Amino acid sequence: MEIPKHFIERYSLFIKDFNILTMPLPKSFRVNTIKTTVNDIKKRFKEYNIKITQLPYYKEAFISDSPEIGKTLEHFLGYIYSQEITSMLPVLIVKKELKNANLVLDACAAPGSKTTQLACLTKATIIANDIDYRRIKALKYNIERIGAINTILTNQDLRFFPNMEFDIVLLDPPCSSEGTTRKNPNVLEQWSMQQIIKHSNLQKQLILKAYNLVKKNGILIYSTCTFAPEENEEVVNYLLEKTTARLEKIIIPKFKTYPALTEWRDKKYNKQIEKTIRIIPELQDTGGFFIAKIKKC
Ligand SMILES: C[S@@+](CC[C@H](N)C(=O)[O-])C[C@H]1O[C@@H](n2cnc3c(N)ncnc32)[C@H](O)[C@@H]1O
Repeated sequence: MEIPKHFIERYSLFIKDFNILTMPLPKSFRVNTIKTTVNDIKKRFKEYNIKITQLPYYKEAFISDSPEIGKTLEHFLGYIYSQEITSMLPVLIVKKELKNANLVLDACAAPGSKTTQLACLTKATIIANDIDYRRIKALKYNIERIGAINTILTNQDLRFFPNMEFDIVLLDPPCSSEGTTRKNPNVLEQWSMQQIIKHSNLQKQLILKAYNLVKKNGILIYSTCTFAPEENEEVVNYLLEKTTARLEKIIIPKFKTYPALTEWRDKKYNKQIEKTIRIIPELQDTGGFFIAKIKKC
C-alpha cells in the first residue's frame, strides 16, 4: 500500500510514523461475558497452546499473534468476539454509567461490535439501529451468536428516528476510515477531501439528532476511526455551537492518547475540545481513532 503524499503532508502534525499505517494490525478479541469468563478463556487457550495476552487497560480483552483464534470452537460458539482494540474504547469509557442505565441507543450499530460489547456490560434495554438493512443482518447474527437478550433492532435513518429519551447514546457514524489502513489497505485508494467533507456534513446532522435523543444529564459518545479533524473536532465543535452540551474528560488508565486539536487550518475550536481524545497507531500499535464524551445539559 502506498500512502498518498498529500495524506502525509496533511497529517504530519500528529502522525510521526506513517510506516506503521501499512503494517498488519495485531489480532484482538474480547471475552463474551454473557457466555463465559476471562479465566475460562485463558484456561481453554492454554490447553490449545495458543498464546494470548491480556490488555492492562481492559481485562476482558486480549491480543494474539495466532491466526488460529478465528477458527476456534470458542469463536464459533460466541465465547469470544474479534474486535479491534480502538473500537472497544467508546463503550469502555461508559462502563460505569452503563450500570445504572435503563435505555441505551447504539445509533449506527451494524455489524455490532459495540452493541455486543454493550450487551456484556449492561442490563439496560439496548436499541441497536442502522440505516442499512443488509448490514443489519450481520448485526442480528452477531447478537444471536453472543446470546444477548436485551437488544432490539431497528432499521431507520437516525435523522428521522422517533423522539425518545435515552440514558446513553453511542454515535459511531460512517467516516472516511483513515485509521483503518492496517486492516483495510485499500481504504486510501478512494481517499479525497470531497469524501471527508461529505462525511463531515452527515456527521453534523447525526450528532445533533443523537444529542437530542439523550435525556438530561445523560451521555452521548461520539467516535470515528478517522484522523480528519473535519470529521472529529469540527463535528463536536459544531454540536457545542448549536447546543448547551458539555464535554467530559476521558481517562483510560494505562492507555496512551494524543490530545485533540484545538485549531486546524483557519479554524479555532471551543476550548472544551481538549477533553476529546485521539488515538494514533504508533502510540500503542493500534488503528487510529477519535472519541468525545458529551454530557447533555
Ligand atoms: C462505522 S459503521 C458502525 C460500526 C458499528 N458501530 C460497530 O461497532 O460495529 C457506521 C454505520 O452507520 C450506518 N449509517 C450510515 N448512515 C446512517 C444513518 N443516517 N442512520 C443510521 N445509520 C447510518 C452505516 O450503515 C454503518 O453500518
